[in-house]
Amino acid sequence: MLHLNTKYCVPDQTKLLENSKKDWREKLNPSFPMSDWLDIDRTVTQEEINRIKALKEEMETNHADTLIVIGIGGSYLGAKAILDALNPYFQKSAIEVIFAGTSLSSEYLTSVQNLMNERNVYVNVISKSGNTLEPSIAFELIEAKMKERYPDYQKRIVVTTNREKGSLLKHAQEEGYRLFEVPRNIGGRFSCLTVVGLLPVAIGGVDIDLLLKGARNGIHYLEDAFTYASLRYQQEQAHFPVELITFYEEKLESFGKWVGQLLGETQGKNKKGILPVPNFFTANLHSLGQYLQEGADIAFETVIKIENSENLWVPSKEKDLHEINNLVVDQVAKAHQEGNTQTILIELDRLDAYTLGELIYFYFLTAAIGGYLLEINPFDQPGVERYKELVQQALQKEE
Ligand code: PA5
Repeated sequence: MLHLNTKYCVPDQTKLLENSKKDWREKLNPSFPMSDWLDIDRTVTQEEINRIKALKEEMETNHADTLIVIGIGGSYLGAKAILDALNPYFQKSAIEVIFAGTSLSSEYLTSVQNLMNERNVYVNVISKSGNTLEPSIAFELIEAKMKERYPDYQKRIVVTTNREKGSLLKHAQEEGYRLFEVPRNIGGRFSCLTVVGLLPVAIGGVDIDLLLKGARNGIHYLEDAFTYASLRYQQEQAHFPVELITFYEEKLESFGKWVGQLLGETQGKNKKGILPVPNFFTANLHSLGQYLQEGADIAFETVIKIENSENLWVPSKEKDLHEINNLVVDQVAKAHQEGNTQTILIELDRLDAYTLGELIYFYFLTAAIGGYLLEINPFDQPGVERYKELVQQALQKEE
């Protein structure tokens, strides 16, 4: 269960009312362009779920111990967020999921290639367009290594892309690789509940049925998502353009990055939008905390608070450790409010696949509604396309 708590963020009711007059409700409809993510039945089919489970079984039968997922932006952040949030800190799942194609680091890719010598590997390359530079280079190098190592490399390489065009699709068809389709009407950053995210997380041990069950319940948080989007809008209008996406549990760090991408890439357009910054407390209370208490008035915080966790008694404090963690959440919110930094609390009763599914869907709603309040298109990313174009042009000039 998810609960939006605004006790440390004083809403301006007049502005909330004003926002509610905008036409976001009409646009928030699965038949609206790029809005299939609203309907979980359109994001993934039962047949795709069965194929994902069959792949997992095949990998287990072949004693595979590693899945290398190649992708960038929306094609990897969601899967990484879900895996890190739900897997234990140290005992990883039977099949380890590692990521590549998220940068152009030659040292990182060399390390992945070296690791492949010791592991029993499958690869899942994910690119909706099929043309993005970073994953295409990583795939070229990792595929070469797969061909060198495995006579049966074709069955070990799985491609997730669109079904119409792009160099990745063409190559996959020529090689006869297993194909999964990215739904046409869902953008990269809204795709973690499609095969894009579900395949890697299922292989990495997550219960995807439970994750999707939670996501299906997410629509019940529509009004909360509107309130949150309105509060964010108000903060921006009041010249607080930075949002610290804050968590007190280290395993939510990747989730913070995913939220950063979802909100930042969706709403940062036409010289508008809030800059979302992932922020881990209590560690950063000993660094950024100073700025939030006494620095320039530019930021507000959204804290993802987990109500219940492991019981761990601290004898000297005569309290449970998680109770102390949550006591700190409240005291920090009070302190920062004195320093003119408001805090919005998103409370989950516990962190598991179901509540994470709810939270993901809640953030999808918030991103889209927030985009409509700002009167921008929530589903394009012309700024990202621009850098891709310039790099392609520069590389062609060099050839
Ligand atoms: O949200 C988005 O659309 C982007 O972040 C894309 O996911 C990212 O640029 C990767 O694109 P592609 O999947 O086409 O390789």
